[in-house]
Amino acid sequence: MGLPNGIHHLAIATRDMKAQIEFFTQIVGMELVALYWMHGVPKTFHAFLRLGDHSSLAFVQGPEMDSIEPVPGVSHAGFTAGPVAGGAMQHVALNVDSEEEMLAIRDRLRTHGHWVMGPIDHGMCKSMYLAAPEGLMLEFATSESPIDADEWIDPEVVALCGIDASELARYRRPPSFAERGGAVAQPDPHAQPNFVFPPEQREQLGALLHMSDEQIATLLSFPTPPVPKQRGAA
Ligand SMILES: [Fe+2]
Repeated sequence: MGLPNGIHHLAIATRDMKAQIEFFTQIVGMELVALYWMHGVPKTFHAFLRLGDHSSLAFVQGPEMDSIEPVPGVSHAGFTAGPVAGGAMQHVALNVDSEEEMLAIRDRLRTHGHWVMGPIDHGMCKSMYLAAPEGLMLEFATSESPIDADEWIDPEVVALCGIDASELARYRRPPSFAERGGAVAQPDPHAQPNFVFPPEQREQLGALLHMSDEQIATLLSFPTPPVPKQRGAA
């Protein structure tokens, strides 16, 4: 229990929602499955592009994003191996089932004039790379079999990261956690680094940090889709 098993959605900022939807649907071929106002966030909307039954690539557009300029080497990598700020996404790799599928995507991309690098054989996966709209660094990757950690954890890099043998053993065999059914109390909200709100919203949004789980769920839950279901439609 208690293990994540995939990306439900990865949310990427955009200043041009239509351009991103156009690229990922018409050029990559992914299906648009949601486009609606972000719950409880004024003037901000998001889109979801299907990766699988329970997985999406998402884009978020809000008014403040119009005035935030990308900074190469800080917010944007520039190329798929370039530097960015810690905690920022450096590039995203979407899974494909086979190299054949990857070549089909490459043909689609090249048909639309996009320069694509690869496939390249990395051993643990094969990959190809390109720049998506707004400087989003995009990879498509495919793996034939699960990664064998014995082969792909390099002692030289382990040492460089300051990881000793007992730590490495812990990292490879994470501790289990006894189920408590959601009963663990909320700690001090400042005990660990936490959300940082902009000054003008600090008072309003900061109140969230001191609410109960029930209060937050009541305030922020919006389970109803924006469009009523069409019953009996052909
Ligand atoms: Fe990658």
